[in-house]
Amino acid sequence: MNQRKVTVVGAGNVGGSAAQRLAEKNGYDIVLVDIVEGLPQGKALDLAQAGAVCGYDSPIIGTNNYNETEGSDLVVITSGIARKPGMSRSELLETNTKIVRSVVQEIVKRSPSTILVIVANPLDAMTHVAYRASGFPKQRVVGMAGVLDSARFSTFIAQELKVSVHNVQAMVLGGHGDAMVPLVRYTTVSGRPVDQWMSKETLDEIVKRTRNGGAEIVNLLKTGSAYYAPAASAVEMVESILKDEHKVLPCAALCEGEYGLKGVYMGVPVCLGKNGVEEILEYDLTPEEKTAFDTSAQGVRELCEEVDRIFDAG
Ligand code: LAC
Repeated sequence: MNQRKVTVVGAGNVGGSAAQRLAEKNGYDIVLVDIVEGLPQGKALDLAQAGAVCGYDSPIIGTNNYNETEGSDLVVITSGIARKPGMSRSELLETNTKIVRSVVQEIVKRSPSTILVIVANPLDAMTHVAYRASGFPKQRVVGMAGVLDSARFSTFIAQELKVSVHNVQAMVLGGHGDAMVPLVRYTTVSGRPVDQWMSKETLDEIVKRTRNGGAEIVNLLKTGSAYYAPAASAVEMVESILKDEHKVLPCAALCEGEYGLKGVYMGVPVCLGKNGVEEILEYDLTPEEKTAFDTSAQGVRELCEEVDRIFDAG
């Protein structure tokens, strides 16, 4: 086994899609783990058989037993219940805190040097739970949200302008909630600032739709939340880490002084490489942007305080 070992915890829609994308890369040993009997085994078998058609032969194990995860280089944690229509991310707090804590404890026992990529919601707070439960250095616990939020922002801009989404470079910072901060000033289309491409009213609408991007999909699906783009976003982070690509991506990272924050997991631009979060990059923010960022941080801080109470109660 010379390939990098990646465990995906949670064999639901996000976990299954992430495992599929990883399998198609042909460079990883994949373990898909879930507590539901048969679910990870069934998906792993189905994915292996898809390889016969698609031309990949990545080993994929589906299991209910954490022993199979031993020695993972990286673990993507997608476990937890998903939002239902009308449910806020914070309502998921109590259930998902307990789930993420116990999953992380199982993982770190068997993979003490691994890197954790968190996808469970509410995202920033669950990344904080994983950080506490793991006892890992902050570089090895990172949350996925900014990549997804930026992908949504880019998609809406490209659709509005009828240009390729590959021409759009978007940056969304802050917590993964309604107060997230799409940074218009740092968003460009083929090198030209996005506000030169469209009216302020149109751009404001796109910003609003981006903030509401997760809920828009929940309302359409009715029985769950988005998974193709969340999985793709997590896999971009996995690859940047395991291939030491040093991509600069917006991710939930522990800020200790950066952006004036002390001990808060927030969506900020980070450089992802083989050590996980190699660096947090501090972009200049205008007073208006800083206010929006601080408002988002305050929301995350409040969730984390609640999470700490749940965590400490055992
Ligand atoms: C979303 C959920 C997964 O943004 O948070 O789609």
